[in-house]
Formats: sequence, structure tokens, C-alpha cells
Amino acid sequence: DTPARIAHVFSGTFVHSTPRAAVEILQNCVLGVDDKGKIAFIEKHQDVVSLSEIWGFETSDIRQLGQYEFLMPGMVDTHIHASQYSYAGTALDLPLLEWLNTYTFPVEAKYKDLDFANDVYTKVVRRTLKNGTTTACYFATIHTDASLLLGELADRFGQRALVGKVCMDYNSAYPNVKPVVTPRFAPSCSSSLLSELGEIANNNKLHVQSHISENKEEVELVKTLFPGCKSYTDVYLKHNLLTDRTVMAHGCHLTDEELEIFRETGSAVSHCPNSNISICSGMLNVRNVLNHNVKLGLGTDVAGGYSPSMLDAMRRTLDTSKALTIQDPQHKTLSFEEVFRLATLGGSEALSLDDQIGNFVVGKDFDALRVNVCVPDGPIDLFPGEGDDRNITEVYMAGRRVVPFPDT
Ligand code: GUN
Ligand code: ZN
Repeated sequence: DTPARIAHVFSGTFVHSTPRAAVEILQNCVLGVDDKGKIAFIEKHQDVVSLSEIWGFETSDIRQLGQYEFLMPGMVDTHIHASQYSYAGTALDLPLLEWLNTYTFPVEAKYKDLDFANDVYTKVVRRTLKNGTTTACYFATIHTDASLLLGELADRFGQRALVGKVCMDYNSAYPNVKPVVTPRFAPSCSSSLLSELGEIANNNKLHVQSHISENKEEVELVKTLFPGCKSYTDVYLKHNLLTDRTVMAHGCHLTDEELEIFRETGSAVSHCPNSNISICSGMLNVRNVLNHNVKLGLGTDVAGGYSPSMLDAMRRTLDTSKALTIQDPQHKTLSFEEVFRLATLGGSEALSLDDQIGNFVVGKDFDALRVNVCVPDGPIDLFPGEGDDRNITEVYMAGRRVVPFPDT
């Protein structure tokens, strides 16, 4: 074995989650990233001279994090419609089924035009990267060429991605961009299409993404469309679409029996609180999902949700949890630390990528955000609750620095 060469060394404070602690703060530590983009070591700062001898880096190579800086893992958006970015925030006045027919389907039809697709997809990849989303699980549209283009753009700008051409599978040749089998949702798929997609997913060990139990009208519609199935969850189960590589968005109205099926199959829920409030779909009880040991990540669900920022998804998750506590004082509100975990390690678990990303563990890929709590205005104007993409000064994916963009 040739020893790995060290590409980056950071010294300072690192904040991440572990299976045991929602937040673990590693202070005065040194983290080395090898030339494959993997975390090679994390050690106490005192050992830096012997570390530099073992790993062969100059102590002058170390990027010293400042007093107001830390590294955190890149965030995982477990559910985002890249194709809906073009109208985010402009169409939030209808419930789901009318909203789809009125706004979503006409806009998505435009993606047969590759120039239009290139414009929007470039913007959504850059915007989410700048906001710290190192991994995105995307819905594209039914158009093969535009979906392939989204994969190409994610690769070019350096975002890890699962890209779903809605309703069908396609192949990918990028190391960090993979296809995801994407039946839009049960009401827009025939039983034979769902079965075929289940077979493709299982034969090729592919991820699966879809929507489930987002609003009550949709749940009723599924009952009439699939009378032979016991529940919405049973529809996907019967078509072999629930695996440990499946992530289903929303789940606001899932019953405890349905959550039990999620746990047994290892399928995950993507919680999209901005969307759920914006189009009045429902309020997912995340605490109840976690109590059922179901994997859960956060999603922006652009454009049911109006913000492409995972920090916004974290804030809305807290808000929804507090609203549930107002309704029922017995409800145990999610803590900030728990929500931080959901945005990072939880998302990686939901996508079954936690062997590769999600926190700072030796051997995992270095997907990280350099956060400076004091930019742009310095300590005097420091209001920690007001953080946004300006506080994310660098973004790394698989060891590669992808923000600031090379062209800026
Ligand atoms: N259910 C089926 N399609 C969609 C979609 O595009 N957005 C949301 N929020 N729900 C859906
Ligand atoms: Zn969605």
C-alpha cells in the first residue's frame, strides 16, 4: 500500500453528531483529509508534530480555524424538486392536488427544452451548495435529457446527488451522482408501472424516492385508487418499493401501523416542514417517527417549500415541533441538537449513505462546511439565530473545495 497523501489539514473546532450524541464538539483538534477526499485522522492538537511526521504534511499547511469558526458536516437535503426551483415562493395558495395541476405540471412540461433546464438546474445546484447542501436527493422531471443534465451539473459543481428522472430509471457514470428510481406518487402511477419500478430498483440495488401521506385528500384518493391495499404504505409495500434504500417524503398522516412497516423494511421518511405548512398539508410528528425507530432526514421540498436552504428546514422542523407542543403539552419538543443531527447524520442514514458521509469519522468522505458565525459584520452584530449562507465560507464535498465557486 502506498501511504495516502494528505490534501488538507484543519486545526480548530469541529461540531458533528454521533449515534450516541446529537451534538459532539471536538475542540483543539486536527483533522486530515487524504487525496481521495476521505478523513484520514482526527487527533488532539497536541500531537500535531508527530502527526505531521506520520502523515507527511508540513505544519505550515494547516488551515487554522479562527476563534469564531468551526467545521460541521455538509447537510443532506433528502427531498428537493430541482425542477420546481423556478417558481419557489410564488405559488403557495392551493392544496396539494390542485397545486400540482395548476402550477407544477405546466412548469415541469418546460423541461423538454434543455436551455430552460440548464438555466434552472445550474441555479438550483449553485444555490443549494452555497447554502451548505453537500448531498441532495433530487426529483427532476419525466425528461431523460434534462435529468441527465442535472446529474452532469451536480458533478460539475461538486454536489453529491441522487437524481430521479420522474417515473423511470437511467444510468450514471459519475462517482458521486447516482440514479434514484422515482415514481412520482401512487396517484400518478398505474399498478404495473409501480411493479416495474420496484423490480428495477431491486434488481439494480437502486435507491427509491416518492411521496406518501402528504395531505388528507391525497390519502383518501389513494384509498379509492388502490382498494385492494390496506393503506398508502401498503401500496408501496405490495409493489416492492419499500427497501432500506427508500426515502418517502412527508408522511404527515401515516398511522403507527404504517410506521411499523417503515421500520421493518428500513425505509426512511423525509420531513419537509416548510412545504407542509406552506401548502397546508399537515404537521408530521417527528418525535413519534423517531420513537418508532424509523430513519428520518430533512428536506426542503422546493417548491412546495419556498426555501432551498437546509438551515430553513431545520428552523421549520423546530417550529413544527413547538406547534405540536402547543397543541399537546405532553409532546416532547425536538431540541436544536436533535435537529442538527437530522440535517446531517440523520439525512445520511435516511439515504443509507451513513457508511460514507454524515459526520466526522475516519474513513468517511470529507463533506464539510466551514462556518464563521461572525461574517459579514463581525462580533458586534452577532445574532446567532440569524445565520444564513453568508456564514458558510467554504464547502467541501469528498475533500474537494466546491464553494467559493471557482468562477467567482
Ligand atoms: N406529490 C406528488 N408530486 C408532488 C410534488 O411535486 N410536490 C409535492 N410537495 N408533493 C407531490
Ligand atoms: Zn416533493
